[in-house]
Amino acid sequence: MPALDHREPNPMSAHPPSDSARSSPPRTWPSEGFTRAPYWVYQDAQTYLQEQQKIFRGPHWHYLGLEAEVKDPGSFKSTYIGEQSVILTRAEDGSLNAMLNRCAHRGNMITREAFGTAKKLYCVYHAWSYTLKGDLSHAAFSQGLRGEGGLPKDFSLADHGLQKLRVETLCGLVFATFSNATPPLLEWLGDVAHGIRRVLNKPLKVLGYDTQRIHANWKAYHENPRDSYHANILHTFYGTFGLSRMSQESGMILDKSGRHVYFYTKAGTEKKSEDYEKTSSQLRSHNDGLKLEDPSILKWQDEYGDGVSVQILTTYPGFVLHQIANSLATRQICTKGPDQTDLVWTYFGFEDDDEALTERRLVQTNLAGSAGMISVEDAAVCEMMQHAVGDAQEGASFIEMGGKELDISGSSKLSERAIRNFWHHYKTDMGL
Ligand code: FES
Ligand SMILES: [Fe+2]
Repeated sequence: MPALDHREPNPMSAHPPSDSARSSPPRTWPSEGFTRAPYWVYQDAQTYLQEQQKIFRGPHWHYLGLEAEVKDPGSFKSTYIGEQSVILTRAEDGSLNAMLNRCAHRGNMITREAFGTAKKLYCVYHAWSYTLKGDLSHAAFSQGLRGEGGLPKDFSLADHGLQKLRVETLCGLVFATFSNATPPLLEWLGDVAHGIRRVLNKPLKVLGYDTQRIHANWKAYHENPRDSYHANILHTFYGTFGLSRMSQESGMILDKSGRHVYFYTKAGTEKKSEDYEKTSSQLRSHNDGLKLEDPSILKWQDEYGDGVSVQILTTYPGFVLHQIANSLATRQICTKGPDQTDLVWTYFGFEDDDEALTERRLVQTNLAGSAGMISVEDAAVCEMMQHAVGDAQEGASFIEMGGKELDISGSSKLSERAIRNFWHHYKTDMGL
């Protein structure tokens, strides 16, 4: 569930760095630019706070959830943008609204529920209540009692609503932004909107949730689904069992700004080549000796009729949409400190799915879910990386697979161009 914040120690950190150690490395970027990411950027506490302001409250769209989660008037969900708790509501007139989950009186949290229905948003502390659009409708004892107390004569309800966010939707996905400078959602998504339209082509039905605490910086996870290079190298289930291989027909599409990306693979389209055979035989994840006792988990039906077995789509800075065989899910990155990230998984199908297809989607959460046999490896490498960063006093990652450029063209998945583009935008947003 979109969980309430609960900070926990990192079990992999035998000797977690102290706050002073975290803030001591010089915050300079390597001269190579976006082909390097200095390790302090995964750990530095001050950088983390600046990200909240410049990226999460900056001119970007952030995924809040599915329209299907707030289907009826009066329904709401609470979630996060960065560290900020946010409420998404469906008002009586059917409109979607997003606002800070923070009372305009003295900052109490309006709701602690992940989901609910309500006629108004009510703050328990001093009973200020708000409409489902976030307007203040009542402040308790505002007139005082027996001529004493109460709010000043110039107090106006209209001036004290919840802080509102802009909201836009695409194919049932709800995004919000704090900034008036953010371009319209479709313009911001560019060509990557095609990848969303391809997968979300019918009314959705939510199947379930889980939230995974990853003991790593949010950017380590954000890089991962942009990283088409690792997919069939790290993941045995892709390589050995053939859901996604470099030898198959595939592609990678970035929007023209390079902020967002999706890549896809078509299972069963192997093109044999000598150099592929030579390299893949060296990969840990290609093991012809492995067999599944029950291979039904890999059965998939080509429900879109285009042969695409895997499509992973990522928007800056914290949203993922996946189709892995018949598993469909959104993943939302919620930052929980410099070295803690919650990844919220929402599994879904379509309203017209039959029972067999629903069952298949649920079975495949064992491939692509927080404990999925593919996805569990992604979280593991993020944590291993966070651990290996050590005190982050020196060092930087090397991001030159497929070149040193931002150039978004080409279709090869043997490329880190989506990651170079991420760091380019990150550096620009952060003024680094
Ligand atoms: S803090 Fe909400 S009513 Fe006082
Ligand atoms: Fe992966």
